Amino acid sequence: MKICDVLLSEYGKASSIPSPVNRLMTDFAVGFRDGRDINLGVGYVNERTIPHQQIQRACEKVLAHREKYRAALNYGGAQGSPNLIESLRRFHIENKIGGITEQTLNSRDIVIGANGATSLLESVTHLLPAGIVLTADPMYYIYCNDLERKGFKVIAVPEDDEGLDTECLKAKLSALGDESAGIRFFYVVTVNNPTCTILSNNRKQELVNIVTRLSYETGRKIPLFFDNAYSDLVHDDTVEPLVSALCYDELGIVSEVGTLSKILAPGLRIGYLIGPRGPFLNSIIQRTSDIGFSAPLINQEIASYLLDHGIESQIEKVNNGYQQKAKQVKTWMEALLGDNIQECRGGSAGFYFYLTLANIATGANSDFFKFLTRTTGQKVVDGPSDAQHPKVIYIPGEHCVHPNGDMVEVGKRQLRISYGFEELPQIHTALKIMKSAIDYS
Ligand SMILES: Cc1ncc(COP(=O)(O)O)c(C=O)c1O
Repeated sequence: MKICDVLLSEYGKASSIPSPVNRLMTDFAVGFRDGRDINLGVGYVNERTIPHQQIQRACEKVLAHREKYRAALNYGGAQGSPNLIESLRRFHIENKIGGITEQTLNSRDIVIGANGATSLLESVTHLLPAGIVLTADPMYYIYCNDLERKGFKVIAVPEDDEGLDTECLKAKLSALGDESAGIRFFYVVTVNNPTCTILSNNRKQELVNIVTRLSYETGRKIPLFFDNAYSDLVHDDTVEPLVSALCYDELGIVSEVGTLSKILAPGLRIGYLIGPRGPFLNSIIQRTSDIGFSAPLINQEIASYLLDHGIESQIEKVNNGYQQKAKQVKTWMEALLGDNIQECRGGSAGFYFYLTLANIATGANSDFFKFLTRTTGQKVVDGPSDAQHPKVIYIPGEHCVHPNGDMVEVGKRQLRISYGFEELPQIHTALKIMKSAIDYS
């Protein structure tokens, strides 16, 4: 008898095919040659920013102090470790992160995700009904891809050098007309991935105002999630201090999602959400319980210890490193690719540059991409099959802009370059190879 394959849900079917970026990165990783190929594509942090010794020490302290760090190797509670929640409160208030005060946090709670900020963002997709989500274009493609597989319709609003363009947002909202009843939430990355454009305080406030008005018009609170993944990584001293969106929120619609991945270590998988108390926050906690009870308690306690002991100097160290790299990479990009760069974003925060090239296509079928991945089919360019020339990978803009958005055409000439993971000499080599790829295109 003929037997059919496993019956998949719509989400299951959509997830059975790897996303284009996952495919790109997997293809590259399979044949990656350490010390030869250069990966400017991954969003990995720089290994040297991870405080290995402090983490080891924190682990020892946690296991030795069982009166404070109780049962650190046992199951944890779903809201998160009380120690970590208290450390995060103190960290925000004492350092006045985003201008947050004790009062800001009085009506709000902090919850820890099961597996980084990603798990909290993913939880949102299960707790809110499918419908329209508004975000910036270029967009954080990983989350937007997840949203679309779950049946949400993403509307991406182009950003300028201050972040999501609120005039354009207003135009898109009016164009939606009655359809705006289907808006479920807003998702805005405060230091955007892929562009590292910093959302200005004015824009942030304007956004909160727009969504507050929309909530009143709709007669229902529409949540506005700010993703602060890189907001502790502003390394340009000339940038105005970022104000937390919580400080602008009078209606109780704003939640901020943060992570310790970029300032400590992605491997700890500690992400948190600060938001107004109420049914939504309760549902996030229940969801954390459903998907794994809590983040590993030992990791939460280690993170708590690290937040209580020297996090400020750790953040300073991380930012000094990225600041130096950003400056150097920018100088090299201008010298090597300058004639072909139409626009360059990033360099003030996080660890990406987002380039728009003049007249050079960057997509997976372009000469530029094929030259860099040594897939032109020409031996002189690719090198001999058993000893190919060094390959360079980046994220093509075509994967970062929304396929139905306003940036599709320009996206074909854009690319994200990460200066996070690789060291400066490798980045220099990669940029020189990119120059040759432009000449070849
Ligand atoms: C915008 C954005 N949000 C969230 C994350 C993931 O954070 P976490 O490691 O806490 O899951 C990333 C990671 O690169 C990111 O770029």
